[in-house]
Order: sequence, then C-alpha cells, then structure tokens
Amino acid sequence: MVKKIWYSYNDIHLVLQELAAKIKNAPVKYDAMIAIGGGGFIPARILRSFLHIPIYAVTTAYYESEQESKTADRVRKIQWLDPMNDSLRGKNVLVVDEVDDSRVTMAFVLQELAKEGFNEIGMAVLHEKIKPKQASLPENVHYFSGTTVPDWWINYPWDAEDIEAHNRLAADSQGFID
Ligand code: G4P
Ligand code: MG
Repeated sequence: MVKKIWYSYNDIHLVLQELAAKIKNAPVKYDAMIAIGGGGFIPARILRSFLHIPIYAVTTAYYESEQESKTADRVRKIQWLDPMNDSLRGKNVLVVDEVDDSRVTMAFVLQELAKEGFNEIGMAVLHEKIKPKQASLPENVHYFSGTTVPDWWINYPWDAEDIEAHNRLAADSQGFID
C-alpha cells in the first residue's frame, strides 16, 4: 500500500518560510510569482508574505491514465498568460507549485513559459519528492525546494473536507501511515 502523509497549514507555513529564505539568498531578484493552479495558489500566497512580490497565475490539469508513467500530453492548459501582461514582460519570474512529483506538469509549464521572453525563470516548490523523475526542467531554470520528502502520497490541508480530522492525522504518529 502507498504510504500517506498529512501536513497541517502550520507545517506548510514553516517550510515556506525556509523556502522564502533560500529564494531571498539567491543572486537573482524575482519581480513576480507565477502560481501553477490549483496546487500552487496557497503556497504562492504564503510566500508573498515573505517575498512581497505580486502573484500571477496559470492553471493546468493533469488527466490521469492507466499508464504507470506520466506524460506531457496529459497536461492541459486551463488558463494562461493570454495576453501576456505588460508588467511581466522581460522580468524575472518565480514559478510556484506545491509538489515536485514526476516533474511532468512542471516541465510542461516551464517549457511554455520559456517562450514568453522572461529574463530569468525560477521554479519554487514546497515539497520535492525524492524519486526518479519523468521529465527534466529546462536549462537555466533556477530550482528551489522548501524541503525534500519521501515518495509518499501527501494530503494537503486545502484538500480536506474535515480540517479537524486532517489536523489530527497530521499531529498523530508524525503524520504518516502505511
Ligand atoms: P509535477 O510536474 O509538479 O511533479 O506534477 P505531476 O505532473 O507529477 O502531478 C500531477 C498531479 O498530481 C498534480 O496535480 C500534482 O499536484 C498531483 N500530485 C502529485 N503528487 C501528489 C501528492 O503527493 N499529493 C497530492 N495531493 N497531489 C499530488 P494537478 O493536476 O496540478 O492538480 P491541482 O491539484 O494542482 O489542481
Ligand atoms: Mg498542480
């Protein structure tokens, strides 16, 4: 059975504070974030409390298949920078998502954004799963992760229908079960 782990909003806020410190210590100064919705929205908003830069958004959806491996042709744009906002043109942008899993969605979004003529592109994720990746990030993308995690299924608080039960699971037995 796949192992599962639960993180509270508090756990996530603390990891994002560490992620923000890594971003602030990097040589590139980012002008704006581009959140990948839906999973990147709440992390980007919390990061803004530390980075104080505006948030733009793109939204994708991943269509599950029977196949074991994830592939880029199953990623769809739901909403994009279309038209591109003048205030973003030629700027340094930090793309934000919640989890670096297979990297298929992330690589798709970064390849598409690379066509937009930004100066520097950074990629920031809350959780970096330690596992073989099925896509690679474009060269010249600066990568940041809040923390590394094992290849377990993560239950995020924003997916919870019962947040009190979620928080109990996050607090119990270090938040994971088999
Ligand atoms: P990656 O490039 O960021 O590694 O993502 P990948 O394509 O591998 O993931 C496909 C979808 O699966 C993404 O949702 C991602 O958030 C979700 N996912 C992967 N691992 C986990 C996990 O451990 N827990 C949860 N809750 N989700 C996971 P998406 O299609 O982007 O949907 P959305 O929720 O962002 O709207
Ligand atoms: Mg997502």
